Amino acid sequence: MRTRRPANATVPRTPPLSSAPRLLRALRLVLALAAAGAAHAGTEAPVASLPMPAQVLPLVPLPAHLTRGEGVLRLASGAVIAVPAGDRGARRAASFLAAMAWRDHHLRLQVREGSSGAIVLRRDARTAADPKGAYELAVTPAGVTLQARDDAGLLYAGVSLWQLFDANANANANANADDARAGVDVPVLRIVDQPRFGWRGLMLDVVRHFAPLDELKALVDQMALHKLNVLHLHLSDDQGWRLEIKRYPDLTRIGGWRTPPGGEPARYGGFYTQAQMRELVAYAAERQITVVPELDMPGHAQAAVAAYPRLGVDIGDGPGRNPRPAVAVDYGVNPYLYNADESTLRFIEQVMDEVMAVFPSPFIHVGGDEAIKDQWKASPSVQARIRALGLANEEALQSWFIGRIGRYLESRGRRLIGWDEILEGGLPAGASVMSWRGTEGAVAAANLGHDVVLAPAGSLYLDNLQSARDDEPEGRLAQLPIEKVHAFEAMPAGLDADRAKHVLGLEAALWTEYMPSRRHREHAIFPRLAAVAEVAWSPAALRDWRGFVPRLALQRARYLRQGVNAADSAFAVQFDIDGGPAGMLAAGQAPVRLGNQLGYGQIRYTLDGSDPGPASPGLGADGQPLIVTLPARVRATAFDAAGRPLAAVREQRFDTATLLTRASNQLQACPSGEMGLRVPLRTEATDWAPVFNVNLLDACWIYPRARLDGVQGIAVDAGRLARNYGLAQDAVKVVQHPARTPAGELEVRQGDCTGPLLASLPLPAGSAPQAFTLKAPLPPLTGVQDLCLRFTAPIHGPLYAIDAARLLAAEPARP
Ligand code: ACM
Repeated sequence: MRTRRPANATVPRTPPLSSAPRLLRALRLVLALAAAGAAHAGTEAPVASLPMPAQVLPLVPLPAHLTRGEGVLRLASGAVIAVPAGDRGARRAASFLAAMAWRDHHLRLQVREGSSGAIVLRRDARTAADPKGAYELAVTPAGVTLQARDDAGLLYAGVSLWQLFDANANANANANADDARAGVDVPVLRIVDQPRFGWRGLMLDVVRHFAPLDELKALVDQMALHKLNVLHLHLSDDQGWRLEIKRYPDLTRIGGWRTPPGGEPARYGGFYTQAQMRELVAYAAERQITVVPELDMPGHAQAAVAAYPRLGVDIGDGPGRNPRPAVAVDYGVNPYLYNADESTLRFIEQVMDEVMAVFPSPFIHVGGDEAIKDQWKASPSVQARIRALGLANEEALQSWFIGRIGRYLESRGRRLIGWDEILEGGLPAGASVMSWRGTEGAVAAANLGHDVVLAPAGSLYLDNLQSARDDEPEGRLAQLPIEKVHAFEAMPAGLDADRAKHVLGLEAALWTEYMPSRRHREHAIFPRLAAVAEVAWSPAALRDWRGFVPRLALQRARYLRQGVNAADSAFAVQFDIDGGPAGMLAAGQAPVRLGNQLGYGQIRYTLDGSDPGPASPGLGADGQPLIVTLPARVRATAFDAAGRPLAAVREQRFDTATLLTRASNQLQACPSGEMGLRVPLRTEATDWAPVFNVNLLDACWIYPRARLDGVQGIAVDAGRLARNYGLAQDAVKVVQHPARTPAGELEVRQGDCTGPLLASLPLPAGSAPQAFTLKAPLPPLTGVQDLCLRFTAPIHGPLYAIDAARLLAAEPARP
């Protein structure tokens, strides 16, 4: 199951067990011992099974009104999409539909002007009060009518029709490149639909990792297919400046590049030319998507200060300027702020002139988040500025700063939006708020009469991992399963009734510290974007998790067909070994529970190493575990009602080694504090690399409920990683454990870390990122006890983490 082992781990994972009798003896012993621990190994068993209907309309987001009729309409290649003469918006919507029909189904639809065709686009309002994007879609046995007042409505009507091409997936499966006569069967129905919110967004951080233009265009395509309409690009931060500014070329020449920790690669970065961004803006506009640019200020400014040190804060000594910082490689919160001099504000206004010339978006995002004020507090000139402006403190200066930029944007017909920290020190007039620290900021701002967008980290930050699976790539350890996204309600409680109109909508955000490649980014975005779309578009009264999951399964098939690297985490089988009746394990058998996060699909398995198919044995509906004879190799996946796999096959071996192994995600962070990330060995590694759970505040883990009778040793697969995190005020919480040697050790202790020291394993010298294995004998122990595993390395050096801890039933060979 663990496919992302460190490539350069130095010892084999399976302990050397040389003869068969010894193997059996050890196996029996270990099985008897391992059961209790393994049963609580941290996997998530489904609590309930969801119904798996045979007939589901593959529509995501769910339309506001839908009436089904009888029968189907067959659309064959050559069918005409008729658009009103001279109507460019209708032609664009029709062309988008035709392109998707061809790309996705090899169905050739022809766009023609006129009023007759198999598919007819009409420019009519349903009602005078239609919000932007409203449409009506009618499928009869005679043809399809798509009707809307605006271009967005026509586009979305086409998207819904395209999604219906999957409605009769078996009949429609004959559509392939070799069959020019291929057709699709579309069910007879009528949809009357409109968006719930006008701001249906996705933020992409292109600073921490850079996404090339073609990836942004592909993302825009997918957003349109989800009826989303705001792409928010986070274009500047401590780790890079990503937009060409012609007047200030060093912003990208210097600020666009950084040297990662460990020096691999020697230079990382990139930026978009203004021409490229204009191209993206036009591409997005054709798909009814507004690109909202964000330049972060007054904090997250290190790349800008690296490019032009005069923009930074004079903290008192020296020649009146800070030395030029490097573009940051530390993630998190860094201290660099813009100063508040007139010349710096003028600089920002000049930058904004160029930004506004490239991005027609009514909103310009100015960040405002996480500007710790240490530099402003320490700077005599900033303090003098605060006094000269008659302001109370640094928070008031931030409010003044943001307000000043807001007035500038307003004078040019634009509106300022910022993260919820812009409320601190007083929300400037006219500013809109994007609420990320929960929803309180949105409530406060809306009650003050300001427009708000909801983007709370706990529900909509897609860098949070979507499952506790061991095969998840990097991300934040905080869990955001798709069900939690789907449950998000954007209209916050606590809002005065007449203030609801200030809730413009919502936005999911992908911060990319741990998203080094397109593959990683797509895995994080999809399929959770489908839930984001439903929450943003569909009426709250229709929200139905049980109805969503079968549609999600069809959406997943669509992603696969389009080559989108959507995660299958929610459908993938997870394995859990059950203690079972006493004696069962000792007799060489194990009850294994198979499930998935969603509790959806028919799980089928094999024990002979082959891939399970729709005819492989399935788990019974009685919820009984599968009894396997050890050692066993179980391969399994879930299938839908039509026998299509819902996820890639997963495999788990059950034998001596696996039963005594706890992977990184099965260890528990020590209670003295946790700031959990799942990170690769090297920050810029773009492969599906080995990843380690790290605890930034305390390099300490508990191996819970280890069954220790007969265990003779321990092997720990560990990693040394760069410690590149700006912790700001949390830095004081980082725990240093006393070390015996300069490089520190891995300590193994009995119990809760105050227990006896069982082993102390010196860490390898050096500081470069590296995977390694430490092994030691353990003294004879008995019973079920926790083990504490903690690193005593200096906390100003590299970070250490555990990939897996393996108890050894035989004494390990001495090095
Ligand atoms: C944020 O997550 N700092 C907006």
